[in-house]
Amino acid sequence: MALHISDDMLAEIRNAADIVEMISARVYLKKAGKDFVGLCPFHSEKTPSFTVSQGKQIFYCFGCGAGGNIFNFLMRYDGVSFPEAVQAVARHYGISLPEKNMSPEQKKQASEREHLLALNHRVMQFYKNILLKDSRGQGARQYLKQRGMDRQIIERFNLGYVPEGWDNLIRFLRKSRVSMEMAEKAGLIAPKKQKGYYDRFRNRIIFPIVDISGQVIAFGGRVMDDSKPKYLNSPETPVYHKGRTLYGIHEAREQCRSRGCVFIVEGYFDLLVMHQHGLKNTVATLGTALTRDHIRRLSRAAGSGDKKAYLVFDSDEAGINAAKRTIGAFLEESMEAAVVLLPEGHDPDSYLFEHGPEAFDRLAQGAPSLFEFLIENTIAAHGKSVEGKVRVMGEIAPVLAEISDPVARSLYTRHLTESLGVDESAVLEKVRETRDKPSARSKRPGESKLSEGKGPEKGPAAREPLQDRLEVQVVAMMIQNPESIAEVEERNILDYFEDPGLQALGKLVSRQLKQEQAGVSGMLNHVEDEQQRRLLASFMMEDACWGRESCALLLSQFVQCKQRRKNDLLEQIRAAEQSNDNELLTKLLSKKQKQAAGRR
Ligand code: GTP
Ligand code: MN
Repeated sequence: MALHISDDMLAEIRNAADIVEMISARVYLKKAGKDFVGLCPFHSEKTPSFTVSQGKQIFYCFGCGAGGNIFNFLMRYDGVSFPEAVQAVARHYGISLPEKNMSPEQKKQASEREHLLALNHRVMQFYKNILLKDSRGQGARQYLKQRGMDRQIIERFNLGYVPEGWDNLIRFLRKSRVSMEMAEKAGLIAPKKQKGYYDRFRNRIIFPIVDISGQVIAFGGRVMDDSKPKYLNSPETPVYHKGRTLYGIHEAREQCRSRGCVFIVEGYFDLLVMHQHGLKNTVATLGTALTRDHIRRLSRAAGSGDKKAYLVFDSDEAGINAAKRTIGAFLEESMEAAVVLLPEGHDPDSYLFEHGPEAFDRLAQGAPSLFEFLIENTIAAHGKSVEGKVRVMGEIAPVLAEISDPVARSLYTRHLTESLGVDESAVLEKVRETRDKPSARSKRPGESKLSEGKGPEKGPAAREPLQDRLEVQVVAMMIQNPESIAEVEERNILDYFEDPGLQALGKLVSRQLKQEQAGVSGMLNHVEDEQQRRLLASFMMEDACWGRESCALLLSQFVQCKQRRKNDLLEQIRAAEQSNDNELLTKLLSKKQKQAAGRR
């Protein structure tokens, strides 16, 4: 990716930004020594190996090897491009980016996301003003009052209202000189069959949907009567992805951390009413099933201590069925999961107004674990006749097969056999059967190759030969003690490198660290190759102490090793000549030529 944002600009943004602050908004970090640690958002883990260095302004995961600077983090976590990440950081720190340095394509890419977010923010204010101040908002105010909503909650969640009509928003957008294309992209308006556009949301209470860092990414809207659809949501847009978004997460984040648990409800009003009753550690899924991605993001936001999720259901079959598929994900994110089943006919909204938060808390305290709940629920559905038990096994075995931790799997299996009163070996057999089917385990969403690796990715460092290891050490040394670069250059060490990737990395390091403003984390902007970036970040994370002597020692070791190899080669050439092995000779000579070329 060619950079069109100038290095000076990048340096200014990096200097203003704090990687710990930006990451903390998304992943709970704890101070550990001079660094910060948390659970890695990029792979499943139970003990924190994700490390953020404030001093160096980089992150590195000792578990999966993900690493880089603040821009690399945002690109991966928020799923944005490099220019978008730069824009996001710049905006967060109130730096305006001169766009003249960007190519038209990049300008478009970088600013689209920002424009959409800024537009959503303005539109939120527009709807909010109508609800709070406009005479046309009278009915909506009345509606919210009648549903028991406090002014405080209405304001904290920035609720709004849009009156009846096809162009309330469109007129506002025109006045504010917002392009219709942009508003369409934001999902706020839709094209008419013939010509022009119309407002997506009409005569609805508006719920702005805000992401974990506080940006308005979408809207939901509810009618105030029985018309259909009851709720309408923004479509997926470049800034809104349903499967990742939890309503209320920004407001709930701190409380989830401090209480170590989170309630997951299903609706907008349920969430608002939970918060209004002091249960502020609540998020909502908004009409989609809870996904693995939701769970991981929630777990990361909740920190690395003990944590528990309460799935709150209003005895709705669909939600319960979907919950089955999340058992494995909860285990992998080391989050306990329990089910709060509300009495028939209640949702959290109605329950809290009728019985109060203490009663709700009592329900939560007696909540069965998600697994217990599933077993009970399945047994209740099929009964304990022989056929019933067979059906229960058939439904639960795939759930067990999804559990990757063998200890947990066996404990859960025992639980099932005890509840059913069947032989454990029979259940085990069934689970094994399911696990062996290739479809059961191999293609789980959200599980990448990376997340399965135990140690750091195998970069060049993992290859054995001494010369490779020395090459790695030389690059590490250059980063950890930039003073050594002068000598590396003087002795032309990099020219003797055999690994082209490491050679390129070494050259980059020596080029970059000579420039004052680059700094270690800035260097990462120039590395496009993922493997190289990981390696670089891991070197940066290490705090090796390189004195003058150890530098000199490494460099002479390196030279000696090359010398030895050269001699070996000469020896081999001599031998090949003597035995008249022409084929081998040709090979060796070309190798020698390559070595010589490297030195030029
Ligand atoms: P209230 O009737 O206002 O209390 O809403 P509720 O949250 O109790 O409604 P319900 O249990 O029917 O729905 C739960 C959630 O599912 C809602 O908050 C919405 O997010 C979603 N939902 C419900 N109905 C619709 C619909 O018609 N369209 C869409 N897109 N989502 C819906
Ligand atoms: Mn309701």
